[in-house]
Order: sequence, then structure tokens, then C-alpha cells
Amino acid sequence: MLRCLERRLAKWISPRAMLEELGPKLNRTPDLETMPFDLPVHGDLQFEDLAGLFASTPLDHAVVFMTIRQTAYLFGLVRRMDARNVLEIGRYKGGSTFAIAAAMRGQGQFWSVDLGEKEARLKKDSAPAYDNQIRDICKRFGLRVNMLVGDARTIQIETGELDLVFIDGDHSYDGVKNDFQRFGRRVRLGGAVLFDDAVPGGLFEAHTDTVGRLVREIEAEGEFRLVKSVNRLAHMERAMPRRK
Ligand SMILES: C[S@@+](CC[C@H](N)C(=O)[O-])C[C@H]1O[C@@H](n2cnc3c(N)ncnc32)[C@H](O)[C@@H]1O
Repeated sequence: MLRCLERRLAKWISPRAMLEELGPKLNRTPDLETMPFDLPVHGDLQFEDLAGLFASTPLDHAVVFMTIRQTAYLFGLVRRMDARNVLEIGRYKGGSTFAIAAAMRGQGQFWSVDLGEKEARLKKDSAPAYDNQIRDICKRFGLRVNMLVGDARTIQIETGELDLVFIDGDHSYDGVKNDFQRFGRRVRLGGAVLFDDAVPGGLFEAHTDTVGRLVREIEAEGEFRLVKSVNRLAHMERAMPRRK
């Protein structure tokens, strides 16, 4: 494919030259010496520990709207925490939904909330609706997802205490703050709240004034600590018990 493109565009520009120029900007220093290990490695290496081997840029988006490092981190964290009560806001095509459900191995309770506005706005083809595709693939592999269609600002969900909340819905300041106040705060001591698009990364603009601002405010409050960021994802952990 690259060769075909190269032939067509050779007169004007070489795609290979473009990639060589852009690659280091997107991937920075891709060698084993600087390979990131985002989750601590104890004992055997897990597949998610190898994510640093792959290109990891916002251009990776396909089904999942996260880089491979972010997705590996989310998957590995759910597995390592043995998370049994998980909530996601924003599933779109279901990439993050399937990754979380696979990490949970069909155990526990997993709620996923989405308005469906992005699908209504962007999906033009006649392939089955994304939620039907998610249901089918989860059924095929014995995975469980409680897929809710609604607005995270108002939807009522009885979850009790949660192990992990993944927030990737409305990226406005008020929207993401609402998601944190209504659902993120439900995580148990040691539980995780993950915000996508909190940190600048690659060539694309991050939501530093909205999601990033909220992460900084939560950190300053002290009830949660920032564990780390992986590409554009920020991982916060509840460091103080929930207030009654
Ligand atoms: C960036 S996409 C999610 C991508 C997905 N997490 C992934 O990694 O593949 C954001 C989604 O949030 C949904 N969304 C936006 N505002 C929302 C709201 N107030 N409540 C629920 N979902 C919302 C949109 O419909 C869209 O599908």
C-alpha cells in the first residue's frame, strides 16, 4: 500500500520521507533503551507490558479512541486490580468497552454509559449500530457489559462502591466535572479514576483547559492522588476514604 501511494505521489512528495520526518515527532524515541513500562512489572511480563513496542500516537485510532499504550494500561490495571465493579462514560464504537470487558473476564459488574450522539453525528454506513456490535462480540466471548444509553449528567445508576471509573464522555469542563462528581467519587479507597485526554500528547491538542484543569484541581484537593499519566490518559487513585 505504501509503495502504491509512493508511486502515485512520487512526483510531488515521498510518503516515506514524510513518515521519517513525522515518525519521531509522534513517537519520540522509539527504541528499547527508552521503552516505557507503564505498569510495574512483577514476575512474568504480561502482554500489556509490551505496549511500548508499538507505535502509540493519536493516529492509532481505529475502533478504540486511545493509543495502544493507554489501552494496554487500562486493560492491565483492570486485570491487576481484579476490578469487579467498573463504570465507563463514553464508549462510542466500543473499543474501550471491549478492552475493559475482556480484562474483567465476564466477572463482576460493568456499566457503560453513552448518549449515542457521536454515532448519530458521524456514522454514515449501514453496518450494524455500534451498540449491537458490542453486544454481539461480548456474547461471543462470554463477557458482560450493562450498556446504558443516556446522559451522564442525569442518568440514575445504582452501583454502590466502584473499583474503577473510566471517564471519556463530554470533554467540556462542566461535563467532565459532572462525571467525576457523580461517578468518579464513588470509587473505593485505592480505587482508580481514569480520565482520557487530560494530558497533551502527540500532535493533537489535549483538553488541558477542561479535563486537565479538573485533574489538577482534584489533585490539589488531596482526596485523590495522580498516580501517573500514560500518553493522554491520567490515572488518579482515591487516597482518602469516601466522605459519608
Ligand atoms: C471519545 S468518544 C469515547 C471513545 C471510547 N472511550 C474509546 O476509547 O474508544 C466519547 C463518547 O462520549 C459520548 N458522550 C458525550 N457526552 C456524553 C454524555 N453527557 N453522557 C454520556 N455520553 C456522552 C459520545 O456520544 C461519544 O460516544
